Amino acid sequence: MLSVNNLEVVYDDVVLVLRGVSLDVPHGTVVALLGANGAGKTTLLRAVTGLLVAHRGKITKGSVRLDGTDITRADPAQVVRGGVGQVMEGRRVFAEMTVEENLRTGAHTRRRAEYRESVDRVFDLFPVLAERRRATAGYLSGGEQQMLAIGRALMARPRLLLLDEPSLGLAPRLVEQVGEIIAQINGQGTSVLLVEQNAVMALSIASRGYVLEVGKVVRDGPAGELLADEDIREFYLGSTDDTGRRSLAEVKSYRRKKRWSA
Ligand SMILES: Nc1ncnc2c1ncn2[C@@H]1O[C@H](COP(=O)(O)OP(=O)(O)OP(=O)(O)O)[C@@H](O)[C@H]1O
Ligand SMILES: [Mg+2]
Repeated sequence: MLSVNNLEVVYDDVVLVLRGVSLDVPHGTVVALLGANGAGKTTLLRAVTGLLVAHRGKITKGSVRLDGTDITRADPAQVVRGGVGQVMEGRRVFAEMTVEENLRTGAHTRRRAEYRESVDRVFDLFPVLAERRRATAGYLSGGEQQMLAIGRALMARPRLLLLDEPSLGLAPRLVEQVGEIIAQINGQGTSVLLVEQNAVMALSIASRGYVLEVGKVVRDGPAGELLADEDIREFYLGSTDDTGRRSLAEVKSYRRKKRWSA
């Protein structure tokens, strides 16, 4: 479905942020992209969606393919038309608009029946949005706004959904709920690339995971394997506070480090 090959991204013509990243999202799967702050996760999503330009970023090497079609330098509208939906960092909703109006901005169809079907699907996934359909989005809770942001992305009926840290700032119960909903969306046939710092949530719904560190993939494998991995557990579970975050490279022993970067 999505295939990223040896991607190199530079900001402001000088800052090398992705240093040869390769990653695959097979059709119908959930793939987790993990990594600490500043690893380059959001940058990778921007590179896929054509949004780098808006951030003075540029792909300097490598390629991005969607179902075999090269989209390496496609503009955002082309990528959306190709069936890629996204929820960017920080649950962007139109605060002044109602829930329903927000959803309407996500729809790309003029056909009433199709629109209705999409809204019904979103309300089915998020009953709380149905209840609050006429509420002003700015007054929703953080969790509800995140659901609305995901719902709006679903309105365009994407075949591939890119999610940037959907669990950020949510209470544990809500994190779990967001995880269940992502699994449900995937069950309805949408492939998902899930960027997360919550490794447990992400890996428990993903089939594969990648760990990004300073612009390079330092680890990848079946989600179950990563979830059972002691170093990953120590790194992602041992430091839940933002100040305590260490590098995965510091956590693992030198021998292991050699094995991983081989
Ligand atoms: N527009 C930009 N111009 C210059 N540097 C940038 C820009 N955007 C991001 N960076 C830098 O690129 C690196 C990767 O940033 P990115 O936002 O992709 O990381 P991330 O993995 O998403 O981090 P986080 O978990 O904090 O969201 C960081 O060092 C960041 O400072
Ligand atoms: Mg980010």
